[in-house]
Amino acid sequence: MEIKNKPKIFIHSWLPDALLSRLEKNFDIDHHDTSEVILSGKKLLDKVTDVEGILALSPIIDKALIQSCSNLKIVSNVGVGFDNIDVNFCTQMGIQVTNTPGILNDAVADMSMALLLAIARRVPEGDRIVRSGGFKANFYRLLWGADLKGENLGIIGMGSIGQDVAKRALPFGLNIKYHNRNRLSKDIESNFNAEWMSLIDLLKSCRYIVILCPLTKETKHLITIKEFKNMKKNSFLINIARGPIVKESDLIMALENKLISGCALDVYEFEPNYDIKLAKMDNVVLSPHAGSASVKSRTGMVELAAKNIEKFFIDKKTLNPVNTII
Ligand code: GLV
Repeated sequence: MEIKNKPKIFIHSWLPDALLSRLEKNFDIDHHDTSEVILSGKKLLDKVTDVEGILALSPIIDKALIQSCSNLKIVSNVGVGFDNIDVNFCTQMGIQVTNTPGILNDAVADMSMALLLAIARRVPEGDRIVRSGGFKANFYRLLWGADLKGENLGIIGMGSIGQDVAKRALPFGLNIKYHNRNRLSKDIESNFNAEWMSLIDLLKSCRYIVILCPLTKETKHLITIKEFKNMKKNSFLINIARGPIVKESDLIMALENKLISGCALDVYEFEPNYDIKLAKMDNVVLSPHAGSASVKSRTGMVELAAKNIEKFFIDKKTLNPVNTII
């Protein structure tokens, strides 16, 4: 079905040529490929002031930007988290917001396990030893790591991705504990033999803790020095959700004071910046916000974001609405 009058849209993302050609049939497109440069501030603003739609990977869509876009009708976010968008203000202004849930679950759950295994079994440390010529012999005490079997894995945010992590963790012999605002149904809990815990009980009793909840006003700085003091000294924290959920300066304090054994981070409080102290610690694994970065996931996300924008202009419906507009 064709869309009349080719609405003007700004695409701030990599996308496959075939998808770009498909969109060009229906839209007047300005495309900025974010493979190397991400636009923000005035540069982003200049691109969007007269568009009707924005399709973008984690752009900052705040009140000021929305106020400058008088024609804007839809923001199609390439990603599941939408803390980068002032959704309430979009709703007030009658702007549809959509996201791309589901399609990235496997990739993010795989990466959660990759980070957990990497920090437990010290994989990047081993890589650094070999690369720097430090592998002289198979010394018996070299790189002993932490075991998984029989340990408690605490999942903070047991939504669909959290449950996909639980599915992967069970065959490793991990016991699943979780913290969510709402308890899951008995059926789902029994699928994973999962036990709901208050945050404090989870922190006190789990050796591995994976953060997978969205960033909201309530979850900003959910983990501060107070929480680290309640964690086990041999525990590992894995944050693959959003950086500001963990107060970075407190995390560093916790690592320096050995309140926990280590951490693996895919996200940072002041992303893409991070405290250089983290990069100097061997018991820290760092990854550049690559949780959803698999071929299937990233190509699927942009395809779904495109479908949301096409469907919106064809019949005012979307596949993945984040807000309800009248
Ligand atoms: C990635 O961080 C996402 O929210 O999809």
